[in-house]
Amino acid sequence: MDMASERSATTPTSVNSVAKIANVDINLTASLPAAGVASLSAPVSVAPASSHAASPASVAPSAPSAPVAPPVAPPARSTARSRDMFARIKGSIAGGESSYARLRSGIELCVDRTDGARMWDVDGNEYIDYCLGYGPLLFGHHPEDIIAAVVEQITTKGYHFSFPHELDYKVGEAVQRLVPSIDLLRFACSGTEAVMACMRLARAYTGKDKIVKFEGAYHGWADPQMVSYHPPLSMASGRPGAPRPLPDSTGIPQATVEQLIIQPFNDPDALARVLRERHHEIAAVMMEPVMANCGVLPPRDGYLREVRRLTERYGVLLIFDEVMTGFRLAPGGAQDYYDIRPDITALAKVIGGGFPVAAFGGTAEVMAIEARNEVLHGGTYTANPLALAAANAVLGRIERERDTMYPRLFALAERLSAGLVRAIRQTGYHCVAQGVGPLFQIFFGDTPMERLYNYRDTSAYVREDLYGAWHEEMQRRGVYFHPGQFERWFVSTAHTEADIDATIEAAREAIQAVAARIPPSGAAAPTADGWRPSYGGAVADVA
Ligand SMILES: Cc1ncc(COP(=O)(O)O)c(C=O)c1O
Repeated sequence: MDMASERSATTPTSVNSVAKIANVDINLTASLPAAGVASLSAPVSVAPASSHAASPASVAPSAPSAPVAPPVAPPARSTARSRDMFARIKGSIAGGESSYARLRSGIELCVDRTDGARMWDVDGNEYIDYCLGYGPLLFGHHPEDIIAAVVEQITTKGYHFSFPHELDYKVGEAVQRLVPSIDLLRFACSGTEAVMACMRLARAYTGKDKIVKFEGAYHGWADPQMVSYHPPLSMASGRPGAPRPLPDSTGIPQATVEQLIIQPFNDPDALARVLRERHHEIAAVMMEPVMANCGVLPPRDGYLREVRRLTERYGVLLIFDEVMTGFRLAPGGAQDYYDIRPDITALAKVIGGGFPVAAFGGTAEVMAIEARNEVLHGGTYTANPLALAAANAVLGRIERERDTMYPRLFALAERLSAGLVRAIRQTGYHCVAQGVGPLFQIFFGDTPMERLYNYRDTSAYVREDLYGAWHEEMQRRGVYFHPGQFERWFVSTAHTEADIDATIEAAREAIQAVAARIPPSGAAAPTADGWRPSYGGAVADVA
């Protein structure tokens, strides 16, 4: 199997091409300095783009050193108003949030306003924000050009038509220019909808029902795709390389669950086996090219190319869910970054810059059945002009600034992730950072770790208790990111080097405060469900 590097040498956003960005010297070819020795003001080294398997945010493991200083108390902050407001919200909104994924009990935060890379809660506390509305805000909170485009649309033309309009072709053509595999597309209102449309399209085009999905991957909350996202592994065991599909919510019919065939990410041999045995019933392999809902798990070198080769060989479509990676890793998303052409792509988040717009598209041949309405897709709000005005501004800015913005985003994320790892390790904990450019996660564990490749290994490694404690201490010091180990950090163009350095300094204090609560030598908490650490374990039956 050819596992040569997939990264296009000519990709215009190559981080290799950057030598000096925004007055920060970046050494792009040297290896990272040993953890614990680099000062915050020292240049941060970045892995060369051609070795993306190590990922721009990967940092080699090293032995943690002992705690060096007593914890520094954060400035006193009140969160009383957030608590009171949340209690009131819960009186009318079930659970207090209109999404299952957002809040963690005890650290509720009600937002008052936002600007650029910052947000303020209703108590007036300021945060550097790395959650960024769960990812759409690549340019930070409400940048002026997106506001101007939306205001012009709303004040001069209107905000809801349900007829074809000028922004249809403007945004459509921008997507065609930016995303290499998309000949034709359609708009949707959320990533969940876009993925549902991709799945139906693949089934309609191939006349087959089953879809291969990867364990640990999230593709939205609807019935057809909310399967084996973060399943309890004691229940998900199956034949090696063939985990049992499990619903992630009550209320999902078993018959729907069984339409999915679950696979371990980054295991081409397992995929080859399942495609060989079952290709006659498989419509598509659906994947995030970089898994970003399991922390961040980049593909192994050559993996995506092998997936593409296998799907072509067995007459199975390849769906890239680029809801998270689209327009973020490169102007054309992960397929541009890794130079792989899927048959169908789902897009959301960055495309709308915070407005609810999504899209799905693919080759002219596959999309022809969509064009003929042989497979149905629709919705009152699809191609909403307000949302498309925002998308037009977002994509226009990407086209104008692509040569500078992606290298800068990569450099900022590298500086941040490397600094966080150094701060954590200096305090005596083990951790690994991995990701691609402005999409990365820090995983806390009990041992040195070089790289995590799939859901089971990640589940076995991570210390949610440490990550949660660190998150809490960071929030108290004015830095916000999602509290879950299986989430991730986002960096926007609105972040500055000063924000990054302030964040690293906060991390240094925060992790020392964690050490006072949970000493670095602490053993991992026993797991509730006795997972298996990998996919090669005992053989059981497979559905
Ligand atoms: C990869 C991926 N696909 C689909 C979705 C669903 O998108 P939405 O929340 O817009 O429905 C998400 C949301 O985070 C996602 O990360």
